[in-house]
Amino acid sequence: MKGIILAGGRGTRLYPTTKVVSKQLLPIYDKPLIYYPLSILLFAGIKDILIISTPDDIKQYSDLLGDGKKLGINFYYKIQEEPHGLAEAFILGEEFIGDDDVCLVLGDNVFYGALLPELLQKVIKSKNKATIFAYPVANPKDFGVVEFDDKGNVLSLEEKPKEPKSKYAVPGLYFYDNSVIEIAKNVKPSPRGELEITAVNNEYLKRKELKVEVFSRGVAWLDTGTPYNMLKAGSFVETLQSRQGIYVACLEEIAWRKGFINDEQLRKIGEELKQTDYGKYILSLLEED
Ligand code: DAU
Repeated sequence: MKGIILAGGRGTRLYPTTKVVSKQLLPIYDKPLIYYPLSILLFAGIKDILIISTPDDIKQYSDLLGDGKKLGINFYYKIQEEPHGLAEAFILGEEFIGDDDVCLVLGDNVFYGALLPELLQKVIKSKNKATIFAYPVANPKDFGVVEFDDKGNVLSLEEKPKEPKSKYAVPGLYFYDNSVIEIAKNVKPSPRGELEITAVNNEYLKRKELKVEVFSRGVAWLDTGTPYNMLKAGSFVETLQSRQGIYVACLEEIAWRKGFINDEQLRKIGEELKQTDYGKYILSLLEED
């Protein structure tokens, strides 16, 4: 399974902050926003990850994350010239995906929950052709909305509906088989001129190949759409980290726990960052061990 992170877009909802800085590089408490969706791909055990961003921002992502070797994984980079829509990720990523299945995560989506790694493993093992998630929200009009029956069969999917048929938003995390490339190529631009991910999901629904997993109470999906929500997400992470002493989305820790890097590799990274709490936390993992 390959992983793609979409970290482009215009970020206009966060202007002026995002006028010269890519949204997904802004901090959520103590680390860049992109670390949070990246942590999901690592938890899923995905080691080949394509990062897609704008012509102006792509270099900053490669400066930040490098080739991935430090984490025992591989990062690749691709430019999206214009924000043509989420489904373009599969067209831009065609060569990278090759014959594999693929997981797409949006670079501005923050997920957290002890049950999440287990859920991700379940989805990967299921070999479903397409899996999306559902999460109850107060403002479904702002998202893709999924309606489903008692048995979890999807009844309808709509992008930002004026009159939502359910309170379940579709978070920015999607698992697809290889046919997503062909499906994305056949999607027509929506009235707002984008290749919508909801159109991709609707094609899988039409083929009766779409599954939905509802995030349980143990999983949090945080909105980062406004400055206020960014602040709230940062304060959520700060609270968890300081109360529990456990870091959220520490990529080095996840890579180490997954066995992608060994103790020595982790120690080296910790030493480089030891003047920060982040680095001290990394070193403390080895002491506990
Ligand atoms: O966050 C979940 C929602 O994400 C879903 O519920 C919706 O179905 C889905 O369409 C999407 O809605 P948004 O309106 O929030 O997407 P937005 O345009 O804000 O883009 C999401 C992220 O993807 C953001 O970090 C920017 C990036 N992006 C977006 C587009 C359109 C790209 O990198 N390239 C693009 O072409």
